[in-house]
Amino acid sequence: MSRNIMILPGDGIGPEIVREACRVLEAVNDSFDLKLNFVDELIGGASIDVYGEPLTDAAVERARECDAILLGAVGGPKWDTIDRAIRPERGLLKIRSSLELYANLRPALLYPQLVDASSLKPEVVSGLDILIVRELTGGIYFGEPRGIRTLENGEREGYNTYKYSESEIERIGRTAFEMARKRNKKVCSVDKANVLEATILWREVMDRLAPEYPDVALSHMYVDNAAMQLVRAPKQFDVLVTGNMFGDILSDAAAMLTGSIGMLPSASLNKHGRGMYEPCHGSAPDIAGQGIANPLATILSASMMLRYSLGETAAADAIETAVGEVLDQGLRTADIYTSGTEKVGTVQMGDAVLAAL
Ligand code: IPM
Ligand code: MG
Repeated sequence: MSRNIMILPGDGIGPEIVREACRVLEAVNDSFDLKLNFVDELIGGASIDVYGEPLTDAAVERARECDAILLGAVGGPKWDTIDRAIRPERGLLKIRSSLELYANLRPALLYPQLVDASSLKPEVVSGLDILIVRELTGGIYFGEPRGIRTLENGEREGYNTYKYSESEIERIGRTAFEMARKRNKKVCSVDKANVLEATILWREVMDRLAPEYPDVALSHMYVDNAAMQLVRAPKQFDVLVTGNMFGDILSDAAAMLTGSIGMLPSASLNKHGRGMYEPCHGSAPDIAGQGIANPLATILSASMMLRYSLGETAAADAIETAVGEVLDQGLRTADIYTSGTEKVGTVQMGDAVLAAL
């Protein structure tokens, strides 16, 4: 049975890092006889340049037919002044919402080899293994009404709507509890229930679900405190579950605990476990085209894809072991470089992972 994988390189460093991840996927495709077919599509600025929009409906339809999607990153200065309805980021939001990829899993795992690359003290981060479960298709990112309007006094006002329905909260809550069951059995739900009604309901729904998961301990934390705790004592967390915007922010903070956002993969799943896999970082236009971007977050995203959507555990394990070996060899892209290690570029890093495989 062959499986179709959609490849969406996107913009900036996207094509460079996706190229390395595809080489790794092709290698395991051969060695583990995975029968993967790759289907290329455009997203973000790359799609705007060709079709005048950041993701075509035809591309969404093709994505629906695929077994999984691997995405690089979208956006860049070239499209920053474009009409906001067709910004590159809208392509990403469109595919997330069209395919109902509501469960975004962002594991922040510190490789022991990178303990010195973190900006935090080794004792604070060593052994760190937390999972951020971010709601991805609701909240303020999608709430209507939204816009920029002109008031009676002639002044303009920007506005967005932060809302969550009970069913949206419940399904992401269940994802968090189920993930925690396979880990250290702790869920911390992050909200701003001291101020925002949408998150008062969020907290209520989480509390209502908790008795169904008696083996998992649920706690609650306000988002400002969670940001502080993440940099103060991150190892207190196992699974963090939160809404779209808080998850966006907290996952970047968590990324730095692991040395570099260039190490962080992610999975965005729908209710059938189908999904899109992408690094947590953006398109990094400042370093695009220089061959220095870290491809490991994308390579690790490909490995999450094999694990979560394709059930290919052995191939996923092989990739993760290979990444560990490359780090053991002391190879580092610029973002994780520390003195005494060897600085390599994007392609060399890909080569090293392939060799280790
Ligand atoms: C992320 C990114 C996106 C988001 C942007 C590019 C729209 O920051 O995946 O975290 O905000 O979700
Ligand atoms: Mg982000």
